Amino acid sequence: MSGTSSSARLFFALWPPEAARKQLARLAREIADQCLGRPVRPENLHLTLAFLGETDCSMIPVLREAGSAIHRAPFDLLLDKLYYWGRGNLVAAGISQDCNELGALVQELRNQFTAAGVRHDAVKFVPHVTLVRNTKRDYPPEIMPPVAWTAAHWSLVQSRLSQRGSVYQSLADWTLAPPDNQ
Ligand code: 2AM
Repeated sequence: MSGTSSSARLFFALWPPEAARKQLARLAREIADQCLGRPVRPENLHLTLAFLGETDCSMIPVLREAGSAIHRAPFDLLLDKLYYWGRGNLVAAGISQDCNELGALVQELRNQFTAAGVRHDAVKFVPHVTLVRNTKRDYPPEIMPPVAWTAAHWSLVQSRLSQRGSVYQSLADWTLAPPDNQ
């Protein structure tokens, strides 16, 4: 958080483990080459759980508490389909089979926001990992090599724009743990 600004662009995200990150980064480079786009940097690859946008910094402790109130077990994700979203000129990896645990985590986070009076959108959650931005050539959605991922690591993240694009800084980290370890 910069000491001078009173608001920050915030979101909650799941981070892929290293093996999945590498697979996604490779896929992002390949697609970026094909559609003349900008691959998301490997360290920035994530799945957004909740986007809060520009938020008063006084809310950060409340958001840390909201995250800390959640105790859930790790779960498996399978990224296996590509989205091409023309308006944002963006290619993303998505999930063809609903993942109940992921939906439940997002819903619990939203419930925590409601209980804490945190403003948030209740829009339909479309799980995805953005791979490529600013495409200049169409890349129709098609099957991708599946990327399996055990979701365990998630964070409250601040996004800042720099000359290199978005820079993400984690403001709080959590680990999904089996019930015995909670
Ligand atoms: P995107 O990758 O689909 O662009 C940080 O910007 C994260 O928040 C990104 O994952 C981004 O999704 C997501 N994000 C940005 N604006 C958003 C919005 N209006 N609604 C939901 N998610 C958003």
